[in-house]
Amino acid sequence: MNTPTSSRALGTGPAGLSPVGFGCMGLVGWYGTRDDAESTATLLEALESGVNHFDTAASYQIGENEKFIGPILKPWRERIVLASKCGLARGPDGGVVADNKPQTIRTSLDASLARLGTDYIDLFYLHRIDTQVPIEESVGTLAELVAAGKIRHIGLSECSVATLRRAAAVHPIAAVQTEYSIWSRDPERGMLATCAELGTTFVAYSPLGRGFLAGNFSRLDELPANDNRRSHPRFQDEAAALNKQLVDTLRELGSELGASAAQIALAWVLAQAPHIVTIPGMKTRAHLRDNLAGGRLQLDAAQLARIEQRAAAIEVHGERHPPAMMQAVDR
Ligand SMILES: NC(=O)c1ccc[n+]([C@@H]2O[C@H](COP(=O)([O-])OP(=O)(O)OC[C@H]3O[C@@H](n4cnc5c(N)ncnc54)[C@H](OP(=O)(O)O)[C@@H]3O)[C@@H](O)[C@H]2O)c1
Repeated sequence: MNTPTSSRALGTGPAGLSPVGFGCMGLVGWYGTRDDAESTATLLEALESGVNHFDTAASYQIGENEKFIGPILKPWRERIVLASKCGLARGPDGGVVADNKPQTIRTSLDASLARLGTDYIDLFYLHRIDTQVPIEESVGTLAELVAAGKIRHIGLSECSVATLRRAAAVHPIAAVQTEYSIWSRDPERGMLATCAELGTTFVAYSPLGRGFLAGNFSRLDELPANDNRRSHPRFQDEAAALNKQLVDTLRELGSELGASAAQIALAWVLAQAPHIVTIPGMKTRAHLRDNLAGGRLQLDAAQLARIEQRAAAIEVHGERHPPAMMQAVDR
């Protein structure tokens, strides 16, 4: 069995995180079809392989995701870092609305605990930052929940550097979760450095570009009709045809190293700093095994420089979220 060789710290807390964690969002829908038997087998193999960081959210399939993973993770509960998120709801226009009001945070946490079948969550995030509620107030509420033993660490997802600093003045922020990969590099504009300074772990979500960087698809008609990615600007045919050059770069290096494009994509993210961990989404054991190998792959300076040089020459086409989602990002 492939075991991750090292762990990375969670904020200033004691728990070590496997460099390759498990993004659970896609397990029960969202991207493509659902296969509960294979998803269950994948989660169990991940646990047995040493993956100890599992990421879900109240909003994933409106609680269905937490209900699915809770019983599977239960026997391993004390040995894992279970992360969930609150504060994000669907808006009437199909977009998303952040709601970080203290009462919403408390109600959402209780509902997540019930669905997950646990009495504490290791890492509890504000999924999006609500500009109507001062961050000091929402993090103050989360700090009370830490004191009450209902959550162990506080995280922020898609926050700005300024928000992180204000939040950290109230309570240590163990983790910031934001999209980060070879084609989504916003965190390099201050966030990675600020996390390092504050002792905050950076959790890179969608490290495989939602499967695109792994080379899984390059045209919309390769995705199932109900696949969420169909609405993403980067995957529209014209943009995808141009963006595919990045995948070609990853594939080219991968074929020289005997590695998949996904492995190169993950190894690149992990090579950027020691306080970064990844949470690729995967619902097959084949993808899990491939990603664990990616977590062990060490790219040398020349290989990293080559990726950098090629990436610098390729303009990424399209925003990383549809417009209605992009407006909810705290920048
Ligand atoms: N905080 C936020 O706002 C936010 C937003 C998005 C995501 N997230 C978190 O980040 C996690 C990961 O993000 P994501 O799922 O959007 O994107 P991702 O990890 O970049 O990509 C997932 C896609 O890549 C495929 N894949 C995984 N490993 C592969 C491999 N080795 N080879 C080929 N294909 C592979 C998966 O296929 P299969 O599913 O078929 O295995 C899936 O379609 C989510 O599960 C969620 O926990 C957080």
